[in-house]
Amino acid sequence: MSAAVQIHDLSFVPFIDQAQIQTRIEALAKEIDTQFTGKDPLFLAVLNGAFLFAADLLRELKCQPEISFVKVSSYQGTQSTGRVDELIGLQTGLKDRHVIVLEDILDTGVTMNKIFTLLESEQPASISICTLLLKPEAYKGKHQPEFVGFEIPDKFVVGYGLDYKEYGRELKSIYQLIN
Ligand code: XMP
Ligand code: MG
Repeated sequence: MSAAVQIHDLSFVPFIDQAQIQTRIEALAKEIDTQFTGKDPLFLAVLNGAFLFAADLLRELKCQPEISFVKVSSYQGTQSTGRVDELIGLQTGLKDRHVIVLEDILDTGVTMNKIFTLLESEQPASISICTLLLKPEAYKGKHQPEFVGFEIPDKFVVGYGLDYKEYGRELKSIYQLIN
């Protein structure tokens, strides 16, 4: 496998290679197919990080997936109570649909809590979480992911869609911070 990579001021070492990622994605797709074939599932991939994972997973699925790409945005509302979250890019109605959220990584779970709350208000039939990576030691989210690619230690990773200050997304493997 390839050597360490430098991104901005940090060095990263190879952690999960391309072949391991693809093998795990094939297995995840089978699990998802078993559960959702015939249910007209709607996949919501969270940008930017999940774009490669979504592309590779979708091509393994046999359950006739519909996919849409969303982004979580936080803006200053008119109230003094702080920031308001919104989900940008949702074009399909979610009511009575089986929604599967595709994420690159679940770290503390703050982002997924926000996404879940926003989705629940649309009254889908179900919401499931599928994440390529999970940091179990850090995760305090209210909802456990049904489908997990890899459980990893609580160290920063880049590659395969994941970035360090917007660089490193193009790497074919996942790299872990040296420290
Ligand atoms: P939370 O803490 O809300 O974090 O679960 C989720 C978002 O934080 C980013 N994140 C990472 N990005 N390497 C990355 O490139 C990491 O190790 C990492 N940990 C968290 C990511 O954008 C994710 O959606
Ligand atoms: Mg990021």
